[in-house]
Amino acid sequence: MRKIVIAGNWKMHKTQAESLEFLQGFMPSLEETSQEQEVVLCAPFTALNVLSKNLHGSRVQLGAQNVHWEAYGAYTGEISGPMLTEIGVRYVIVGHSERRQYFGETDETVNLRLKAAQRYGLTPILCVGESKQQRDAGETESLITMQLEKDLVDVDQQNLVIAYEPIWAIGTGDTCEPKEANRVIGAIRSQLTNPHVSIQYGGSVKPDNIDEIMAQPEIDGALVGGASLEPASFAQILNYKKDAG
Ligand code: PGA
Repeated sequence: MRKIVIAGNWKMHKTQAESLEFLQGFMPSLEETSQEQEVVLCAPFTALNVLSKNLHGSRVQLGAQNVHWEAYGAYTGEISGPMLTEIGVRYVIVGHSERRQYFGETDETVNLRLKAAQRYGLTPILCVGESKQQRDAGETESLITMQLEKDLVDVDQQNLVIAYEPIWAIGTGDTCEPKEANRVIGAIRSQLTNPHVSIQYGGSVKPDNIDEIMAQPEIDGALVGGASLEPASFAQILNYKKDAG
């Protein structure tokens, strides 16, 4: 069975105080959210501890936005798996295009981070996706095939979420047409050894396009950036209408 996983990616937003303020508005709206759905908040490292304490016993799972491959060591600025699991973190985003683009993340380091996340009991959310230039050149499938081949070497597909995030759709308001996202996600699934991996769509997901996105048969959830920062819009996304299409 493929699980529905909807995750907020706060990126570099929200202090501890702002995170707590978010929860105040957000938690009551979860009462309407289907129990079968996994709800995840991927917050900055500094907000994880306070969120963990306040989410204890709730259905919201906590996620980080990066993890190093070693348990400890001389890696200034990095965070390890044990540091995350100790405070109750369950998920971690790996290989987001912003990390690949601005911080020199490569398929090799993505692979190391994925394996480390699993080794320490975290579920990685692996992000893949093409740039506008690659899409226009007809390279979407070949690029994603290459990313998956390199990123997933020796990765356990029993404990994995994938997010298809076309780079040109991230933060632009320019959502990928849901049927096209469905097609690419089907192509991603055809490359996996485990057909039950949940595959999300990410890139300008909003309350007004979530119903159509979730109506696509291959799409198992969403990775939501900007629209996860406001309690009301993230709640509307979680409470999407199931019979749209
Ligand atoms: P966006 O970001 O929803 O703001 O486009 C998505 C993401 O980068 O995960």
